[in-house]
Amino acid sequence: MPYERDNIHRLTPYTPGEQPQRADVVKLNTNENPYPPPAAVLEAIRRVSADQLRRYPPPRAQPFREAAARLHGLSPEQVIATNGGDELLRMAVTVFCEPGGRGLGETYPTYSLYDVLADIHGTSITQVPLEDDWSVPEDFAARLNDHGCRLGLLVNPHAPSGRREPLDKLERLARAFRGVLLIDEAYVDFAEGDATPLLDPERGLDNVLLLRTLSKGYSLAGLRFGYGLGHPRLIEALDKARDSYNTDILSQAAATAALSARDEARESWKKVIAERARLAGALRQLGFSVAPSQTNFLLAAPPGDGLSAQALYRALHDRAIFVRYWDAPRLDDKLRITVGTPEQDDALLGAIAEILREGAGG
Ligand SMILES: Cc1ncc(COP(=O)(O)O)c(C=O)c1O
Repeated sequence: MPYERDNIHRLTPYTPGEQPQRADVVKLNTNENPYPPPAAVLEAIRRVSADQLRRYPPPRAQPFREAAARLHGLSPEQVIATNGGDELLRMAVTVFCEPGGRGLGETYPTYSLYDVLADIHGTSITQVPLEDDWSVPEDFAARLNDHGCRLGLLVNPHAPSGRREPLDKLERLARAFRGVLLIDEAYVDFAEGDATPLLDPERGLDNVLLLRTLSKGYSLAGLRFGYGLGHPRLIEALDKARDSYNTDILSQAAATAALSARDEARESWKKVIAERARLAGALRQLGFSVAPSQTNFLLAAPPGDGLSAQALYRALHDRAIFVRYWDAPRLDDKLRITVGTPEQDDALLGAIAEILREGAGG
């Protein structure tokens, strides 16, 4: 008999995108920012002293909380620092969902980690399919309420489609939902607006939690630093389930420096946004249909009369160009392509054109 709990025994773990060790791969598969992090981040890491390493770090990452609060016009009590955005998700599932019972509600498709976390916790999952244009159905909250969901998870802008829902719609959903609405803003730095206005006390919403990460906008996926923003009561509840020292001194120093170097990071966002438009246009020229995106990736379906998305994914992989493919409903005819540098994207476009020509027998 296995020693682990039944649900862990049955669990299909999260499958991360491939992380090749080779340097020659054009890596457009895990939505990393192709530009380096702000110089101040590396400086801050170098400045960490032996004495700081010897001691435990500030348990709640208080200097970071204060910096994030200043940035977003909130109080430090509305901020929790986490080991990547993923840790905030794990904490939210642990704190808000009942094991063996009323659990989380999400859209389909969505970030696939949500289901894994729910399965680990042994809580229920309610899935609401997105509309054909990837928008969230207006009755999303009502359907979650019908199933008694305690936590609603919305990625906005959405992964993997790239679509962004407007603030007024998010507000309607939050007001209608009886549980905690976690808006996962992992890609918000590449979008036209965020949901922080929902945290304004004047709006009287106490059930909104925002997820932020430094992985994408600040080019720090290797650092593992994210944070949550929300009503002090939600943050206090999450804080009870936090590991004693969940973020380390190096990442706290780096993350605090990153926020203060936001202007430098923003330069990379501008480049990614401009390149996103160019890449989408070039893919459309090649016959792809590309969903409008407010993120640093594109969901693109290859022309229907040629190679399947899966065959194209494999042919690109053979040429050391990595994109993401899911063998899943509504996604199995598409590729998710991270926006790279113009050089990386040119390599991708050149390879696609060549593969499509070869596929057509040319
Ligand atoms: C939708 C979404 N949410 C959250 C995360 C978590 O990011 P991290 O744990 O790197 O902060 C990711 C990472 O890919 C993501 O795609």
